[in-house]
Amino acid sequence: MTHSSCVRSVLALAGIALLIPLTGCERPSADTLQTGFRGTAMVQLETASNTAEKLAANQLPPPTAALPPSGTKASAMYQNVQILGDLDSNEFTQLMLAMTSWVAPKEGCAYCHDAANLADDSKYTKVVARRMIQMTQSINADWSAHVKETGVTCFTCHRGQPVPANIWYSNDGYTPRVAYAGYRAGQNVAADSVALASLPEDPFSPMLRDSGQIRVSSNHPLPAIGKPTPDIKQTENTYGLMMHVSDALGVNCNYCHNSRLFSNWQESTPQRVQAWHGIQMARTLNNEYLEPLKSTLPAERLGPVMADAPKANCTTCHQGAAKPLLGVSMAKDYPSLRSHGTTTAAAPAVDTTPAPPATPAP
Ligand code: HEC
Ligand code: HEC
Ligand code: HEC
Ligand code: HEC
Repeated sequence: MTHSSCVRSVLALAGIALLIPLTGCERPSADTLQTGFRGTAMVQLETASNTAEKLAANQLPPPTAALPPSGTKASAMYQNVQILGDLDSNEFTQLMLAMTSWVAPKEGCAYCHDAANLADDSKYTKVVARRMIQMTQSINADWSAHVKETGVTCFTCHRGQPVPANIWYSNDGYTPRVAYAGYRAGQNVAADSVALASLPEDPFSPMLRDSGQIRVSSNHPLPAIGKPTPDIKQTENTYGLMMHVSDALGVNCNYCHNSRLFSNWQESTPQRVQAWHGIQMARTLNNEYLEPLKSTLPAERLGPVMADAPKANCTTCHQGAAKPLLGVSMAKDYPSLRSHGTTTAAAPAVDTTPAPPATPAP
């Protein structure tokens, strides 16, 4: 073998060896979607296989047939309707059928009802469902800055299961001390909640339950008197939350931010403002609706560390899509879920109108 043919075969072998690991990669057929100004490299990549995955994961349930109005209100026909009394009794029935297919298709009406007495409230699931109806009405009526005209129904979160697939419990930063590893302060494992980063695995308690400061970029180099300087933990929680947000929506950071300067609102996309409203909404849902259900839920539904109620984050609705269910509006067919309606149930009246995001001072 001559020297040069030897070099050639070594090169050929090296070429094959290099190709083997590449066969595991996606075919280069990605579509790009520009989300920012030209030249800012703010683009999203979509491949054929993740588009197919998203379509498969966002199939809608069959619609429930609308019935002609009966002319009688549900309150006149039934004994214990505390929030849906103003509905025409046929619209009420249609909603019961729809709720069953969205939340308990296998279990049926009996998941919430004592079949012998539909007015009976002894199943906790019925009491929870009443509050869920009010929560859904509030999302659609009070949070249009986030959910727009698209809105949500029970299906957005439940997807045919009594317990939504994506819920979270608090560990409030508590993690057991492991003798050989010391105290890891609720981080340093590849946690699913933060898209396998080693960031805090529960950024939700400080950021989506409590009103933790998400503004961490400072515009002064050293701690200055009278100016709050974010601490490292707060910064880690912010990045943890942002990993969650990106993962929940199936997008990159630059769907919302120009990575030149993450904090700058002027260079951000309109989606960032919508996301800001989403953060305020998630806080309100967790504090006003979900956490208070703790006293209604049985012990096996409560969190393993803090015995708290299951709560919602961005994934609960979004499930990997920038718009839940790829932007299809199911709520438009259910006007009773789009406004508060009348209520005789005791519900805390809360002002949920959020303030617009302040532009950080220069
Ligand atoms: C996910 C829980 C849930 C499921 C499943 C469900 N319901 Fe209901 N149902 C409720 C709630 C909550 C109320 C009370 C509404 C209110 O207070 O305004 C109610 C009330 C009723 C009432 C009024 C009873 C009365 O006299 O006060 C009827 C009738 C009814 N449901 C029928 C059905 C039927 C039929 C099905 C199955 C097709 C069904 N429901 C499935 C939660 C559910
Ligand atoms: C924003 C998301 C969201 C929406 C919208 C939503 N739910 Fe829920 N639902 C939850 C969460 C979170 C839980 C708590 C899970 C648990 O109970 O363990 C829950 C629990 C429930 C439960 C108790 C299930 C159990 O076995 O413990 C019922 C019943 C229920 N929801 C009915 C409904 C109905 C009916 C609607 C629509 C009117 C609805 N939900 C809309 C998030 C949602
Ligand atoms: C869906 C939109 C969205 C995506 C995607 C997103 N963010 Fe954010 N980000 C926001 C919003 C909204 C805020 C502001 C929250 C506030 O001020 O209350 C924010 C704030 C921040 C801040 C703090 C800025 C400041 O004022 O100090 C940083 C840093 C940040 N994001 C980094 C990231 C990183 C890194 C990623 C990707 C892993 C990311 N973000 C993905 C919406 C998004
Ligand atoms: C109760 C369900 C729900 C929750 C929880 C939720 N969202 Fe949304 N979000 C929606 C709906 C519905 C839309 C579609 C609105 C529309 O048509 O623009 C939406 C749209 C968005 C958009 C606009 C996407 C686009 O392509 O224009 C962003 C960004 C977003 N949400 C971010 C978030 C973030 C961040 C969180 C968590 C802090 C969050 N959402 C939590 C329901 C939800």
